[in-house]
Amino acid sequence: MTTDEAASTAGPLPFDTSKAHQARMYDYLLGGKDNYAADRDGAEAYLKVYPGLAFTARANRAFLGRAVRYLAGDAGIRQFLDIGTGIPTAGNTHQIAQAIAPESRVVYVDYDPVVLAHARALLTSSEAGATEYIDSDLRDTGTILTQAAELLDFTKPVAVTLVAILHAIPDADDPHAIVARLMDAVPPGSYLAISHGGSDLLTEETHAGLQGVTGRVSQQQFTNRNREQVERFFDGTDLVEPGIVRVEEWRPEPGAGDAGTSALWGAVGCKR
Ligand SMILES: C[S@@+](CC[C@H](N)C(=O)[O-])C[C@H]1O[C@@H](n2cnc3c(N)ncnc32)[C@H](O)[C@@H]1O
Repeated sequence: MTTDEAASTAGPLPFDTSKAHQARMYDYLLGGKDNYAADRDGAEAYLKVYPGLAFTARANRAFLGRAVRYLAGDAGIRQFLDIGTGIPTAGNTHQIAQAIAPESRVVYVDYDPVVLAHARALLTSSEAGATEYIDSDLRDTGTILTQAAELLDFTKPVAVTLVAILHAIPDADDPHAIVARLMDAVPPGSYLAISHGGSDLLTEETHAGLQGVTGRVSQQQFTNRNREQVERFFDGTDLVEPGIVRVEEWRPEPGAGDAGTSALWGAVGCKR
């Protein structure tokens, strides 16, 4: 079954160590220890089809860091809604934002029980700021917005970060409408940061190979999208320079090493 055929499965992700989970495979690809044999085997099966996946994971994490630094720094954002948090690792959103502005408030959201189990590491806020964790599915925007409002002031700008999560939402669940609901809830001057698997950044053969692995090993389904589909998530925003590019090309730090080519589109937009 491909994602496009998948029915909506909104709700908590069951804890199942016999199937690979996106959060735990990503942890493995980043060199973490919070993963099981099925996750390692799953990641290795993906790597066989697409050896660039390890670079892609690192480049994605680095993009998240640069995007949050930009948002807390140049853009002056002090409130973050980070959906699809992942297992805590080096450089979590609140650590990056609070290093620039200690008063930053960060609400994390993820639906994976393993991320929930590690949530304490995300609740280590600076005294001047605050962090909160919401155990919710991205598709349940009502719950997310209601609970996030306990910490975030939605009359002031908020940065919504959806980094490497939207390709886990099948077309059947209308990811564009989900993003629109979130961005409708925040005022002009708010930001949206996205990275997303690019169907047009892979050869057809690799794309088909990855879909085959997903069907075999993963508890989740993935829908890569092309540049135009990713651009549509940014309707109603002005894209920050350099627009939509591969994640490693988004405002790279001078002299950044670790050269490679990822298969992820990345961009940041400011709500008009
Ligand atoms: C690849 S990780 C990305 C982590 C982090 N954003 C980063 O870029 O470093 C994607 C995360 O999205 C979460 N996720 C996927 N689908 C989700 C959904 N429908 N609702 C909430 N979280 C979801 C996964 O559990 C995983 O932790």
